[in-house]
Amino acid sequence: MRLDRFLAETTELTRSLAKKAMHRGEVTVNGAVVKQSATHIASDDRVEWAGQPLALVGLRYVMLHKPADVECTARRGLYPRAVDLVDLPKAERLQPVGRLDADTTGLVLLTDDGQWAHRVTSPRKRCAKVYRATLAEALQGEALAEAVSRFAEGFMLEGEEKPTLPAQLVMHGSHDAELTLYEGRYHQVKRMFAAIGNHVTALHRESIGPLSLGTLAQGEWRELSVDEVAAFS
Ligand code: URA
Repeated sequence: MRLDRFLAETTELTRSLAKKAMHRGEVTVNGAVVKQSATHIASDDRVEWAGQPLALVGLRYVMLHKPADVECTARRGLYPRAVDLVDLPKAERLQPVGRLDADTTGLVLLTDDGQWAHRVTSPRKRCAKVYRATLAEALQGEALAEAVSRFAEGFMLEGEEKPTLPAQLVMHGSHDAELTLYEGRYHQVKRMFAAIGNHVTALHRESIGPLSLGTLAQGEWRELSVDEVAAFS
């Protein structure tokens, strides 16, 4: 990798600011000042800027307990972004692995490993996502039995070309639904309950595959362990 790119990857400098820092003699490679931005950096080279050692960030895997009024988007908008809550170098490179709506709380995974993200989200991988939805209308008796079998069979949501994948609905109270999905379509939980004449007033994602929030409080995040990452291979 070129030295100017290495600096842009490992610091807040842009490539042109990196070049200026090099020209000022602030950058050393293996202890010697280097001013040529095209200098090739090998994995065992020791690069320092203003006396600070620099290291490339590897692939990162993070779980976040998303509060409401936080958006899973790359662009800054009305609300803070999920990545803004993650205090890691170059956090803006992390992408949410499947989005939650701004008003939905719960488990969000973030990574800069696109292939891993694909394994988590691809419907072919049948990775279970468990949601807890508070419903405006009670769901019980015959209406509940109908909803359970409709969700289990899969059905066409408005504007979609394929039926939903089989999903499991379990009620923990007349208004407290647990829904397990194996895919992640736009506003899917809210649209599924709307399709049976109900309305979701609050939504929370409890788990994705084997990962759940555990003791992580709202707004907190942590990096995944090697085993947790490997669970999605
Ligand atoms: N389904 C929704 O409707 N909203 C979410 O945030 C996630 C799943």
